[in-house]
Amino acid sequence: MNPEPLPSEILAYYAAGREARRLFGGHGQIELARTQELILHRLPPARQVVLDVGGGPGVYACWLAALGHEVHLVDALAQHVEHARRTSAGQPDHPIASARVGDARRLDEADASVDAVLLLGPLYHLPERPDRLAALVEARRVLKPGGLVFAAGISRFASLFAGVFEGLLRDPAFVAIVERDLHDGRHANPTERDYFTTAYFHLPHELEAEVREAGFVTLDLVGVEGPGWLLSDLEARWADPVERERLLWAARAVERAPTLLGLSAHLLVVGRKPSR
Ligand SMILES: C[S@@+](CC[C@H](N)C(=O)[O-])C[C@H]1O[C@@H](n2cnc3c(N)ncnc32)[C@H](O)[C@@H]1O
Repeated sequence: MNPEPLPSEILAYYAAGREARRLFGGHGQIELARTQELILHRLPPARQVVLDVGGGPGVYACWLAALGHEVHLVDALAQHVEHARRTSAGQPDHPIASARVGDARRLDEADASVDAVLLLGPLYHLPERPDRLAALVEARRVLKPGGLVFAAGISRFASLFAGVFEGLLRDPAFVAIVERDLHDGRHANPTERDYFTTAYFHLPHELEAEVREAGFVTLDLVGVEGPGWLLSDLEARWADPVERERLLWAARAVERAPTLLGLSAHLLVVGRKPSR
């Protein structure tokens, strides 16, 4: 049976076209740099077959293809798949191998056919736990024994911190959204304001537990951005190479500190499919 399509508000949120720019401005820049280093920490350098599920406009897919990997992208949004194809066409020596519309909960790939799966998005857009587990079990199915899943989540506390540091708590509607996020992780935005869209915000160990429940051995549970994402002058600091290195150092320094995992906007769990 085909999974339910994504809710209309998620489609409308991304239809505005913001995703293609997200990782190149504001705290998206720390997210990108840190996610890349965390991936490189685990992904073998020799050519790997990588399936980027929920790959969006293809930032990670094109980067990994440029590094020499065979990358296939799947995303629920046709607009993102088109964007990924266009970006890939701009690197003709290292294009992504394929890009198609599809759902993380039901992949077309054969069993045991890829070396690594990126799930950097779908898990936080699936508010129902059975759906998240279905996506993770699909990732395990298509992975070769010993293959790696990189599973991202949004921290349960991300909207609270954004509310404090960006002044959003002045808006009672935002406070109500944060209260719900903190209560059960189900982020919903009934306003017309840019307060993200329907999502699930994980407690750090909850994300790791879901990856385990899907049959993986977990290798890493890390906070991605560290404290730097909260700075109001982040743009200026990031533009300075010395300051940028300090922010990255700070993120690395606490990436595994159990009491600070939820300080980051994003969490990353790396899981390995058991060999037998
Ligand atoms: C915030 S974007 C992240 C894109 C990219 N992975 C990145 O990290 O920059 C989330 C992406 O997940 C996709 N997505 C959400 N739910 C999905 C699902 N069930 N199956 C496939 N893609 C999904 C969305 O269409 C969107 O492109």
